[in-house]
Amino acid sequence: MMFRHALRGRGDLDEWRNAARGFLSAGIVPDIIDWRTMDDADGLFGFDDNHLPKPSPHYQPASVPPSFIKLAGAVICHSDPTRFALLYRMLFRLLHDRNLLLMASDEDVVAAQRMAKSVRRDYHKMTAFVRFKELPLPEGVAGRRRFIAWFEPDHFIVARVAPFFERRFNDMDWLIATPKGSASWDGTTLRVTDDPAEKPDLRDETEELWRTYYSSIFNPARLKVKMMTKEMPKKYWKNLPEAELIPSLIANAEASVLDMAKREASQPLAFHHRLQEAAAQVPEAPRAPAGTLAALKEEARSCTRCDIYCRATQTVFGDGPTDAKVMFVGEQPGDQEDLAGKPFVGPAGKLFNDTLAEVGIDRRSLYLTNAVKHFKYEPRGKRRIHQKPNMGEVRQCRWWLTQELELIKPKLVVAMGATALFSLTDMRQKLEDVRGEPIAMEDGRVMFVTVHPSYLLRIPDEGRKAEELARFREDMSRIKRLAA
Ligand code: URA
Repeated sequence: MMFRHALRGRGDLDEWRNAARGFLSAGIVPDIIDWRTMDDADGLFGFDDNHLPKPSPHYQPASVPPSFIKLAGAVICHSDPTRFALLYRMLFRLLHDRNLLLMASDEDVVAAQRMAKSVRRDYHKMTAFVRFKELPLPEGVAGRRRFIAWFEPDHFIVARVAPFFERRFNDMDWLIATPKGSASWDGTTLRVTDDPAEKPDLRDETEELWRTYYSSIFNPARLKVKMMTKEMPKKYWKNLPEAELIPSLIANAEASVLDMAKREASQPLAFHHRLQEAAAQVPEAPRAPAGTLAALKEEARSCTRCDIYCRATQTVFGDGPTDAKVMFVGEQPGDQEDLAGKPFVGPAGKLFNDTLAEVGIDRRSLYLTNAVKHFKYEPRGKRRIHQKPNMGEVRQCRWWLTQELELIKPKLVVAMGATALFSLTDMRQKLEDVRGEPIAMEDGRVMFVTVHPSYLLRIPDEGRKAEELARFREDMSRIKRLAA
């Protein structure tokens, strides 16, 4: 007798697990189950039924090693229709040999590991190659910026990868559509469906921006064509606006290297100048009422209080609720913040977000800002190397921070790093001397001092880094308690 069982098979481990548990409890051996997906040509309709057999009275539930569940979680996302049978066979074998996964040359183990690797690679490619396009808000409607992207993954990874996009693009609304399901985020809820989506028409002027960006970061002196096509396989090119540049960039690489050698190292970046122009062309927004944070932000857009604005793309003003109880102050926007116009969205922001999540602080409840509102850097070749703002620049920019403090009136102000501490106190103290304890400020507020997340990212020694991360986490937990 043969059993046939059809699953939707869209990366849902529980769906397969329920069926597998049913077969296992009835003692059904792997060879007599014909696993299908509902998308198969004859679909479910060709089956007599899709019911599970009755459990055997002698069935004793057994636990499986967590490493198998982890592996199965990745394998189930693979698009190979044989994955269900493979996993059931492995599950069945594990009941008799708990060390099955340690047998690196076992055919089933090899096949499962290969599928899991392919799923992980697909996940990584999706995080790297999704290109968002902004959808303009209807005229007269205010709200969060909205973005849409189209991606074609090889496997059913949308649900798996969606939390990454939630963390990374937390401050905008977005929808990622794919033929294998879609994910969307609206600032509070992450929604995932496994229904196939149609490719939307996404051609717009941001394509040109991507191309400009790509050609600005393309370094012909470091060109390795084989490596490049391995990292950015051609199958992804059709949905990458910058990809059409690749053949000509490769063809001209040699000439560009010679040309680069002749030029000064500090060429201005094409990309940020384009954004700078775009920012300058934003039509005058209706003026926010005087004395509000919105008015202050608008005013800061044209800040020229020190020279840093000359090279920066735009003012990166503070961000968060106007009645936030806790305000975090960093140093200055980094490369990614300068392009995005939002604080803490780059690597330091990611570490910051992860730590907040670990200790259970909701980033959306915080007001995040910087001591200095423009990105200070030194152009080196095509890169923009962060430069610490000097005391004069910090003092000039304190003009904005003081007003942010007055308008938001946070109960707790967290200085992350020495620049923030200097901006808030005008004193040059050693961070370690004041770190980790609440300090009463003259204006009645409480200040808490901790390190800057970028400092943690730069620690080369892994052991020390782990220790410092743990201390940072402790500081964050203390901040959570103080805020409460
Ligand atoms: N570092 C900061 O101090 N602020 C940011 O916004 C990003 C990195």
